[in-house]
Amino acid sequence: MGQDEILGAFRSAMRHVAATVYAVTTGHDGERFGILATAVSSLSFDPPSLLVCINRASTLHEPLGFADRFCVNVLGVGNRDVADCFMRVGAGEERFSVGDWVEEQGVPVLASAQSSLLCKLAHRHTFGTHTIFIGELIAARHRENAKPLTYYDGRYIDITEAPDQQP
Ligand SMILES: Cc1cc2nc3c(=O)[nH]c(=O)nc-3n(C[C@H](O)[C@H](O)[C@H](O)COP(=O)(O)O)c2cc1C
Repeated sequence: MGQDEILGAFRSAMRHVAATVYAVTTGHDGERFGILATAVSSLSFDPPSLLVCINRASTLHEPLGFADRFCVNVLGVGNRDVADCFMRVGAGEERFSVGDWVEEQGVPVLASAQSSLLCKLAHRHTFGTHTIFIGELIAARHRENAKPLTYYDGRYIDITEAPDQQP
């Protein structure tokens, strides 16, 4: 397979991987930064940790490198307006004009998110266009009845509305 063919097949494959949508946020020099991300994964329970993959060209990348802490806000279907705002508006503060953002340990936390996972930056690793940031959990909150905002085939869906299907 040629490189173009591999990339095309990879894009198609990933397009059909349903992914939970996160707002990854941090604070630096009194300013708030954040981007929408799906490349987020839990890493281990011991220590409780997770990883986020952030494009080095994004506005979050530099402040995240300086920051000591960041928050992984797991978006629910009720946070669709926040997702739209993060994609629509310019970088920095404007992204926080929609949503019930509160400050916790210098980091913006979305109070109505499905879950809020506040992390201390523990390690980073650069690969290609992205940096993998590893965070150790220092605080976490979860809303039991939330429905995750899910990205699938280039659009947002509510996976709890998927019809039952027999295998
Ligand atoms: C559904 C969705 C998932 C995304 N996932 C990631 C991701 O995991 N990592 C990343 O760096 N950018 C991701 N992006 C792109 C960022 O949200 C952002 O648009 C891009 O990094 C440019 O950011 P900037 O405008 O702050 O420079 C995603 C965008 C969308 C719409």
